[in-house]
Amino acid sequence: MIKKLFVCILVCVAFTTVMADEGMWLPSRIKERVKEMRSLGFKLKADDIYSDTKASLKDAVMQFGGGCTGEFISPEGLLLTNHHCGYSSIQKLSSVEHDYLTYGYWAKSKSEELPVPGLTITLLVRMEDITDRVAAGETNASIVAEAEENGRYTAQINSMYYGLQQYLFVYQVFKDVRLVGAPPSSIGKFGGDTDNWIWPRHTGDFSIFRVYANADNEPAEYSADNVPYRPKRFFEISTKGVEEGDFTMIYGFPGNTQEYVTSDAVEYVANVANPMKIELRTKRLEIISEAQAKDAAVRIAYAAKHASIANSWKKWQGESLGLSRLNTIEKKQDYENYFSMWAQSQPQYAHILDSLRVAYKRVAPGYFVRELFNESIGSIEAYNYTVNLANGAAMVDAGTITAGNLLNWRVNFMKDYNVSIDKAIAQYLIDEFIARAPKDIIPSELLAAIDNCGTTEAFVDSIYSNTHLLTAEPLSSVDIQNDIMTTFVGWFNNVVKNNRKYVYRNISNVPEIENWYRPYMQALREWDSNRAFYPDANFTLRVSYGTVTGYENVDGEYHTHLTTLDGIIAKDNPEIYDYNIPQELRDIHSRGDYGRWGVKVNGRTTVPVCFLASNHTSGGNSGSPVINGRGELIGINFDRTWRSTMSDIEFDPTICRNISVDIRYVLFVIDRIGKAGYLLNEMNLK
Ligand code: ARG
Ligand code: ASP
Repeated sequence: MIKKLFVCILVCVAFTTVMADEGMWLPSRIKERVKEMRSLGFKLKADDIYSDTKASLKDAVMQFGGGCTGEFISPEGLLLTNHHCGYSSIQKLSSVEHDYLTYGYWAKSKSEELPVPGLTITLLVRMEDITDRVAAGETNASIVAEAEENGRYTAQINSMYYGLQQYLFVYQVFKDVRLVGAPPSSIGKFGGDTDNWIWPRHTGDFSIFRVYANADNEPAEYSADNVPYRPKRFFEISTKGVEEGDFTMIYGFPGNTQEYVTSDAVEYVANVANPMKIELRTKRLEIISEAQAKDAAVRIAYAAKHASIANSWKKWQGESLGLSRLNTIEKKQDYENYFSMWAQSQPQYAHILDSLRVAYKRVAPGYFVRELFNESIGSIEAYNYTVNLANGAAMVDAGTITAGNLLNWRVNFMKDYNVSIDKAIAQYLIDEFIARAPKDIIPSELLAAIDNCGTTEAFVDSIYSNTHLLTAEPLSSVDIQNDIMTTFVGWFNNVVKNNRKYVYRNISNVPEIENWYRPYMQALREWDSNRAFYPDANFTLRVSYGTVTGYENVDGEYHTHLTTLDGIIAKDNPEIYDYNIPQELRDIHSRGDYGRWGVKVNGRTTVPVCFLASNHTSGGNSGSPVINGRGELIGINFDRTWRSTMSDIEFDPTICRNISVDIRYVLFVIDRIGKAGYLLNEMNLK
């Protein structure tokens, strides 16, 4: 009983006061937070962050590509994002003769800036709470149509709190975006997958682009006549550095959090989905790494694939560990019990938790099949290629793309494709799918074919050696329809069709479940009235704030907030790919020749590299501006620490830290490694 009471008190304390640092706030409502922000060192006003009518910091922030953030740093549309966000653009522009990934790229004048076909930059024009308009009967379609002003803008409605509120977001999408500068990967990706999600960190994770517009400063398709876009607002840059305790703010587009879900959802993520996904990826990564170790060309061809498979793989492991260490499931159960006691006397809410529980029971098996399929059959490269090829061929027939487009795509795919890796992975993943999927969804044709061949290995051998699709040869002589790979793909049509019912960001967003979260969120606001509710991340613009600070990593081991060039030199090792730095950087260090970029850290002169802060961030916040109390840029956000990886589900302010590259390191690399100091002339350094 005493224990129960104790748990209850703990729970109440832990859940009813949102500590500073937690939260991803809607910019248009930031005035509700400004008092607290000021107490932490913020010096500006709410409408300096967001305003519908005057230029504000929001005009300097953009969504970069589909899933990252970037920020303007000059009146001429120059912008910063992460190296890992610019990576695929840099790769697309690279060739063996011009290997910008390895050696970096620095445009010496605007005429050398390289257009990136397909890359877009999205700026928020305004946002509006339209909950009342929708309730009054306006349709989403009419609200969007009105906001788009005959094609001038792109508008979108996003629901917050599982649909309790609706927000309209009006955007401008720019399509002429050019690469201006990128450090060599040995700086921009320093530490590679080894250091990913880890502190201490020494990655110069930045790249530089420029947005171009037409003569009216409006978005336009690429044209040599376009001119640099003049943003309404750009960031001034502080070179004064950061101290422990300084206020910091992150302005960006976080993608996916689920802070309000019930214990059943956490149980599903931590104990059902994550273990399956981690196991399947462990073996895939092993197969790829082994092949990479044997062949340098394979190492390069599979570098980006390996990095992206490994990124989530590593994060899920940290997430499951973190959720178990924080006892998130038990804490949520206590919270739910406590809620139920109150809800019993509220007829409209009394049944919600039971209904949610039933809904999870019904939805989880199907949702799991979708996740299992994506991580198994759906991760076989030949499977995906064949699906895309058939779609591509249909688009050629319909005239949406040219045969040349399709051929280019195939050439690109084949350039980085290794059939023996894919076969080994296919064999493993087919077996795992069969072992883990419910019997009634496993295609009987698949089982019969394997039976026929004797083993999965022999089956895989037979489809890969009989297909004619896995080449970049002209398609004219090939019959896609009757190819064995198309037959294989077709066996899964029913599974794929059924999975469409489950294509939502999280299990909790499947309508059958989400419908119950709407009244649940409503009830929580009434019951847990001291809690400050921020809507879960959904790739809409948010503000997080906190302070520059280290953390206790384990008992007795404090991780300080700042890393320096000395730490890069300590990790430097020409034998280890991830830690092999440019000779130039070694030379600068051995001469101690830092010029204006040298600063004293703990009594020695060095160059600051990365720093930690307590801002609540998520995937999508990569590239976000890190801003000081005066609204100046002090860094670029790019990661979280190992012990923060559960923060999409439970944010623990004592330990969750975001990792940023210090703007002074960015400037140092531009100036001293890129020899592109002229770029600094268009920035406003303070
Ligand atoms: N963990 C960071 C994020 O989730 C950085 C990923 C890029 N770096 C890498 N080594 N894969 O996106
Ligand atoms: N690295 C992430 C990103 O690319 C940021 C994070 O998950 O903290 O958006």
